[in-house]
Amino acid sequence: MDMKYRQIFRLTLVAVLIVNITQCVQDKPAETTSIIGPYLQNMSDNEVTICWSVKEGVTGISDGDSVVQDVSQYRHHKSIITRLEPNTTYSYDVLKDGTTRGQGTFTTFPEGIQPFHFTVLGDTRTRHDYHQRIVNRMIQEDPLFVVNTGDLVSKGNSMEDWEHFFRINDSLTRHVPYFTVLGNHEQNSENYFNFFSLPGNESYYFFSVSNALIIVLDMEGPDYSAPVYLQGENEDAFWINISKRYFEKEKEWLENILTLNDDAGYIFVFFHPTFYSIKASRVEEAELRREFLGDIFERHGVTAVLNGHDHYYHHAEHGGTHYIVTAGGGAPLYDTDAIQPETVKYQKIEHFMRIDVGLTQTTLKAIDINGKLIEEIVVNCRE
Ligand SMILES: [Fe+2]
Repeated sequence: MDMKYRQIFRLTLVAVLIVNITQCVQDKPAETTSIIGPYLQNMSDNEVTICWSVKEGVTGISDGDSVVQDVSQYRHHKSIITRLEPNTTYSYDVLKDGTTRGQGTFTTFPEGIQPFHFTVLGDTRTRHDYHQRIVNRMIQEDPLFVVNTGDLVSKGNSMEDWEHFFRINDSLTRHVPYFTVLGNHEQNSENYFNFFSLPGNESYYFFSVSNALIIVLDMEGPDYSAPVYLQGENEDAFWINISKRYFEKEKEWLENILTLNDDAGYIFVFFHPTFYSIKASRVEEAELRREFLGDIFERHGVTAVLNGHDHYYHHAEHGGTHYIVTAGGGAPLYDTDAIQPETVKYQKIEHFMRIDVGLTQTTLKAIDINGKLIEEIVVNCRE
């Protein structure tokens, strides 16, 4: 990776910079164990979390003579490193075993207002070869961080799926922080929360970089298989259901975060299911979602809302806010059979987004799997 080093410091993870190791480092030699990571989480201008997981065993489940499944067990490790310098590149080694297996680099976020760029992809759950090609393209872009709009894996409860996911991302995520959004396929699983170390309550959260505010919402909720705000005809159940309270609380939180950060130059909101769908069978769901969230994004001058879930690229615009579906990270593509009045651009193709945040203008580029530009959206800094 072509990293722009300003300063390089060698970190010794057992030295003073480690302020909190939640679990002690595994003492087995790396060559005899299977390791996921290291990968970067929760970056800021002075802090990073480095995670890695070590396989500690396998439970084989048999049905008579045939093996039903092998369930791997991992021990999760997390080092929260603080008191770092902003906009600085560091090297680390979580294993210190004389190999490169535990090594990586990271660059802290800038402290003041400076241009930067990040990348976004979504729905990486299947067709691992496509996912790998998108990851390889994103590495070439050298992003400050990555956001995945959800459905990272097919089955959040399957450890095998997570092993695939981290293997594909290994060259990226040991250098670049990876922020995630809960999709329905994550199944609200323990694995998701064990692997990722995110801000806030980890389901919905926010962070700031330079003059940009990044907000991640959870639109799956406690019952990922049927978010209750979609159950129009079952409204009685909706109003007394725990999910109702969950989403109402989240909406209140969102309103507060948007109000408190009204001075942000740009606001990007991420959640998995779409606000505008051009897949016929999902148009109504998207309408109910719009009904539930109302005009909150446009009222607060949100720059762009980025979703996954519908496997294509779609750009809609309404009330000055751009609504983008970026879900071309590998999952099988969907037909675009219900173009909406708000639709500006759409394409059924694997792709990712590169977002260049500037001082007065920001450019959002949709780039297909072959490197070809699908669309470029230019937005002005909020006033
Ligand atoms: Fe989905």
